[in-house]
Amino acid sequence: MPDVSPTKWHLAHTTWFFEHFVLEPFLPGYHAFNDRYHFLFNSYYYSAGTMHSRPQRGLLSRPLVSEILQYREYVDEAILGLIQASGENEQIRNRMVLGLHHEQQHQELLLTDIKHVFSMHPDKPAVNPGLLIPAAAATPEHQFISHSGGIAEIGVELESGDFYYDNETPRHQVIIQNHAMGSRLVTNGEYRAFILDRGYGNNGLWLSDGWAVIQQRGWNKPLYWSDDLQKEFTLGGERDIDLNAPVAHVSYYEADAYARWAGCRLPTEAEWELAAKDQPVIGNLMDSEIWHPAVAGEDASQFFGDTWEWTASSYAPYPGFTPLAGSLGEYNGKFMCNQMTIRGGSCVTADKHIRASYRSFFYPDARWQFLGFRLAKDGTDST
Ligand SMILES: [Fe+2]
Repeated sequence: MPDVSPTKWHLAHTTWFFEHFVLEPFLPGYHAFNDRYHFLFNSYYYSAGTMHSRPQRGLLSRPLVSEILQYREYVDEAILGLIQASGENEQIRNRMVLGLHHEQQHQELLLTDIKHVFSMHPDKPAVNPGLLIPAAAATPEHQFISHSGGIAEIGVELESGDFYYDNETPRHQVIIQNHAMGSRLVTNGEYRAFILDRGYGNNGLWLSDGWAVIQQRGWNKPLYWSDDLQKEFTLGGERDIDLNAPVAHVSYYEADAYARWAGCRLPTEAEWELAAKDQPVIGNLMDSEIWHPAVAGEDASQFFGDTWEWTASSYAPYPGFTPLAGSLGEYNGKFMCNQMTIRGGSCVTADKHIRASYRSFFYPDARWQFLGFRLAKDGTDST
């Protein structure tokens, strides 16, 4: 699958990130472990040089895993040396912190990518056969929570001391309309009702691009669901679908069509951020090691963890956005076209990686990440 990278590539690429963006500029006399690795493990930084084709990363039978582990050890050692030699150098510190957050992003991709690879194996092997996915007799009743419109502010304060990505800045005003937001994520059972109501056959529910995609690719259910809608592939192998758990691995098009079928819409990213900012950043995230969306607890809003949430907002620069200087300006800014913003992290997002202002993004036809959604609707009618 063109979007999926091999496990060893993720390890080599995150290592390369430290080598290229920390060691080469800041450690005098540093010698690259292998000059060829710059071409193999640069992902998309054109200003840093050319790179191997992403869809063909799966064909990289060399270097061996053992060689990549040696590369990692070599870079780790040099990084430790740099930390000891440089003391409290703010520029180096900022690059290191960015490298660590970058690595957390790849830890998530490592799991979603290997899930896809294993799903293609005829025997459907489990990444973790003992994966424990909690169940519950029912999911909390879905409610709409009213929010008054007006002028509000979203985004990170530029002076904020915590880490943030450039795409979360600058903080700015937005105009919000009266609206109501779903109290939890949409579940497998609710999504199955959409399928059984011939949701995939009713073109009136679909965006034109979405209708074209489901026709061309023959989509009639979420990625990883069996044809009989009874089983789904998980990181613990094939399991029964829990109707009370959040639906995952749907595209933006499918989330949007479901919302229309339900007489609703998806929340905008500003509405989402304003609703989430006062919530504690707790939930079914990577460290809980469930690695699958789980049934909501009685009071859980599910803003953080379980699944990323598609929003109705195109991924675009905030007013006054300035990308990072140099090659790192390619990290986020150049993707601000034709993609949709997603919010809230998933069951395989590191706990310390996510926050209310965090913006990630995918093309509207992407499904291999843990992608789900909640509903919103106009007006303050909370019924
Ligand atoms: Fe990367």
